[in-house]
Amino acid sequence: MADALENLSTEVRRFAPDPEFAAQANARPEGYAWAKADPQGFWAEQARELLTWSTPFEEVLDWSGAPVARWFADGTINAAYNAVDRHVEAGHGDRVAIYFEGEPGDTRTLTYADLQREVSKAANALVALGVGTGDRVAVYMPLIPEAVIAMLACARIGAPHSVVFGGFSAEALHSRILDAEAKLVITSDGGYRRGSASALKPAVDEALAKGAPTVDHVLVVRRTGQDVEWTEGRDVWWHDALEAASDQHEPVALEAEHPLFILYTSGTTGKPKGILHTTGGYLTQAAYTHLNVFDLKPETDVYWCTADIGWITGHTYVVYAPLINGATQVIYEGTPDTPHRGRWWEIVAKYKVSILYTAPTAIRTCMKWGDDIPGAHDLSSLRVLGSVGEPINPEAWVWYRHVIGGDRTPVVDTWWQTETGAIMISPLPGVTTAKPGSAQVPLPGIAADVVDDDAKPVPNGGGGYLVLTEPWPSMLRGIWGDMERYQDTYWSRFKGLYFAGDGAKKDDDGDIWLLGRVDDVMNVSGHRLSTTEIESALVSHPSVAEAAVVGANDETTGQAVVAFVILRQDAVSDRPAEEIATELRNHVAKEIGPIAKPRTILVVAELPKTRSGKIMRRLLRDIAEHRTVGDATTLADSSVMDLISAGLAAPATSKASPAEPTSATD
Ligand code: WT7
Repeated sequence: MADALENLSTEVRRFAPDPEFAAQANARPEGYAWAKADPQGFWAEQARELLTWSTPFEEVLDWSGAPVARWFADGTINAAYNAVDRHVEAGHGDRVAIYFEGEPGDTRTLTYADLQREVSKAANALVALGVGTGDRVAVYMPLIPEAVIAMLACARIGAPHSVVFGGFSAEALHSRILDAEAKLVITSDGGYRRGSASALKPAVDEALAKGAPTVDHVLVVRRTGQDVEWTEGRDVWWHDALEAASDQHEPVALEAEHPLFILYTSGTTGKPKGILHTTGGYLTQAAYTHLNVFDLKPETDVYWCTADIGWITGHTYVVYAPLINGATQVIYEGTPDTPHRGRWWEIVAKYKVSILYTAPTAIRTCMKWGDDIPGAHDLSSLRVLGSVGEPINPEAWVWYRHVIGGDRTPVVDTWWQTETGAIMISPLPGVTTAKPGSAQVPLPGIAADVVDDDAKPVPNGGGGYLVLTEPWPSMLRGIWGDMERYQDTYWSRFKGLYFAGDGAKKDDDGDIWLLGRVDDVMNVSGHRLSTTEIESALVSHPSVAEAAVVGANDETTGQAVVAFVILRQDAVSDRPAEEIATELRNHVAKEIGPIAKPRTILVVAELPKTRSGKIMRRLLRDIAEHRTVGDATTLADSSVMDLISAGLAAPATSKASPAEPTSATD
């Protein structure tokens, strides 16, 4: 963290808004003062302006049950109606909602009218399968239009969806199905990944075979046409169910605080947390941020967020916000380098994408591939570029603006989390003078600060912990089934303040620079991974006695997973460390998913522990990042670090090859 502080304070480049852009921008500088003077009035106005309510609300915020907020609680609303039907009713049925680009190059175009028919049919199909308001539905799918339709169909009947990223393992899917007590699983036979069909349905079969008493049916979309095992009575083809269903469906008016979805994310302990989001406040902030941070003009823009629906970015900025705002967007199933490294730029040129939202890891990967690849495509349609998921280093920021944005486009570095539901800290295009590497300022209506260990705000120039000091509309409403953990995780560290888990610094202007996680959460390619979760996966392997995992700096992925393992005596004897490392990496992929595979596995004889038995990850991080090992005086046995260093210099060390790069925003 200290290094990052040094680097950031030397960044002096500034990018003032272009006057022409500013003149047409949705965001206005006055927004800050207005929202500051009357935050509730500000959000109420956004909620009324941007959404169509079934019953208008009178109440704005009820914070009497803090830390559980209730926004617009006496209003009723339907998310799918807002995302689809109202645009058709307003005469925009012919507007393209989704340009779908499959990895093999197949395409589909869905207008808002198409979407209305499909979502209505899917909603009727869910009801026919016995899914009712309040029942949970697990969604385990590739990024195809049916995934969006499935989520909206759930929202339409008030069945909270729990989307599980298609790259997660059967094991991970199983634990999420159990925790949410899902009644239905929606999946597909498979999807296209790196040039071939990759199966999904077998993971669902495997997950359900482990026991899932609440699941009655599995609804299966045919995407790849590969053979699937079929459980009669349980499995139903999506196309059969939709064909049998009417395309007329009345959206259910739901209370503003009705759960919209659960999304699992890694925390500091092994068990993923089911982050709960509700309807009215979430949609309000999703819509507001999307219009203002990306300067969306629904009639003319073509918007593309490269995230998968398995992550919060895909929920808020692929499914809900763009459709609520009546945008035309691109969704792409595959990876940036299939079949060639220019695929993204080909897509931008083909659909004349004007707003692009992606992750720093993707930007750095493209940077590494060379300027001539994007240079070979016409990117002149782009007018706003966004970044999300991890700190973006100034060099990548400047490259993004220069090579992708042709030195024209504003770049918005957006800080937020699964828990915050929508963007919280970001420059506003046309308003903010941008500083490469900084997310800069809380949006109008959002209150953030950087505090020290005693919860005191640090002065400009100081560093500490990022906190949110006032409730916001799209904030999580808890952790599914574990409200105590909600309180402990976010509200115990600093009394009355939401602790985000990020380190941050205020510069001399008071702008915020994010410095990465301060807890045992890693950020690999913009994806959150828990050290303890990977450690648990490693020790569940019969050859492993103990394991410690750290996130080490990585030029492309931000951080990379580095694991230190102590092998059981019988496992060490005759097998090459190389072979064991490969086996362990595959084991982690099986337990969690390929994104959690350690980049490096180091076989060691000891782990550094304090007298109370806590692993000192700080020292391991020094080794993983090839630094001189820091202060080791609190170790129970101070010779351990020498032993580890000596052992690593010896041939027992195994550096496995890096995990295959995931699609930047998988
Ligand atoms: C964590 C949240 C928000 C959607 C994607 C990730 C890091 C996110 C930024 C940014 C610096 C960022 C933080 C945060 N993060 N955006 N612009 N600058 N760091 O969602 O998986 O819930 O992870 O991602 O560390 O706490 P998530």
